Amino acid sequence: MLNSIDINKIREEFPVLNQEVNGFPLVYFDNAATSQKPTEVLEALNGYYRGYNSNVHRGAHTLAAKATDAFEATREKVRDFVGAAHTEEIIFTKGTTEAINLVAYSYGRAFIKEGDEIMISAMEHHSNIVPWQVLCEEKGAVLKIIPVSSEGELDYEAFENLLSEKTKFVAVVHVSNSLGTVNDVQRIIAAAKKVGAKVLLDGAQSSPHFNIDVQALDCDFYVFSGHKIYGPTGIGALYGKKEILEAMPPFLGGGEMIKEVTFAKTTYNELPYKFEAGTPNIGDTVALKNAIEFIERIGKDNIADHENSLLLYATEKMRAIPGIRLVGTAKNKVSVISFLMEGVHHFDLGMMLDARGIAIRTGHHCTQPLMNEFGIDGTARLSLAVYNTKEEIDTFVKALSNIANRFSKQKQKIS
Ligand code: ALA
Repeated sequence: MLNSIDINKIREEFPVLNQEVNGFPLVYFDNAATSQKPTEVLEALNGYYRGYNSNVHRGAHTLAAKATDAFEATREKVRDFVGAAHTEEIIFTKGTTEAINLVAYSYGRAFIKEGDEIMISAMEHHSNIVPWQVLCEEKGAVLKIIPVSSEGELDYEAFENLLSEKTKFVAVVHVSNSLGTVNDVQRIIAAAKKVGAKVLLDGAQSSPHFNIDVQALDCDFYVFSGHKIYGPTGIGALYGKKEILEAMPPFLGGGEMIKEVTFAKTTYNELPYKFEAGTPNIGDTVALKNAIEFIERIGKDNIADHENSLLLYATEKMRAIPGIRLVGTAKNKVSVISFLMEGVHHFDLGMMLDARGIAIRTGHHCTQPLMNEFGIDGTARLSLAVYNTKEEIDTFVKALSNIANRFSKQKQKIS
């Protein structure tokens, strides 16, 4: 881990950043959607396909053994990354969405009954809403929603009042992808435990920004995506407590997840393979290890410090632009800023910024119910990563100010 970080050196590790878009140097501020990949991740992918592409856990040959070792080494790396006690508590999935679906289908179908209550929050991503809605519909269970304040913070007292012995499962986002709010998940987990509810944390947006320790958190499940932590798309992980995973039935059936198959009866493989039917995404899994090693080398604390200073800098500058409204002003945030500009639709704003080489996301960010709470149809959102700089924020703020000026002059002319 480095003591202090040299951002320019880090940027050199991301070839994609070194380009012009629409005639301007690229400013990539869409990291909550997906982060860019360092050279070591690209080389790991290339190295796997050029050097030892083979199926895992099956072949008797040398390449298969090499691929299996690399694949399983990533599992161990992920275990360490989330602070799990046992390697077999790490199940590889396509990403956060598949991991949540796995839990909703497997745990939900086995253990949720009619009249049980499942609690999610008003700031969930659709991937942490829809699987629970489907389950509730099927089981006759009830979905309860933790309300959110106008600042974008969860109402913890309301949550505690909603909890009862009927609450069997709480699935909540650790960090909001739309607002950047860091939720007090310790408080949520402690309260949920008192009524015996299981807790799943959606870590898609917490895993890139700060240290995760699932044992200290004492959550039952934690899920994240590789592509948001500088790794490839199509690979993510589910952490689950061993005794809970042991008790859960398989999610998908097929090769790898079985011990023995006969037409009369099939027995299932041990953890983690029970939940990994079919040939997995080997190349991307192998390269995920390099993404985590990149993070380890920079240091999560260094990443958090740098991103927090960017967050404060950008927030202050944006507040000074007339007509800008920040959406989500929680006290505890990561480097995600959602905003609106008076008189300019967020989609147009995104297009105008793109014309200057600045990539942001616009829309509802897969959190339509949250947008409804705020009475809006979406926002413009910048989301910052370790390779972003204050100079890029200056470029962005200048472009935003120019747009604001142009539109306020137009408005004056019309009125
Ligand atoms: N969930 C991702 C985002 O917030 C795609 O952009």
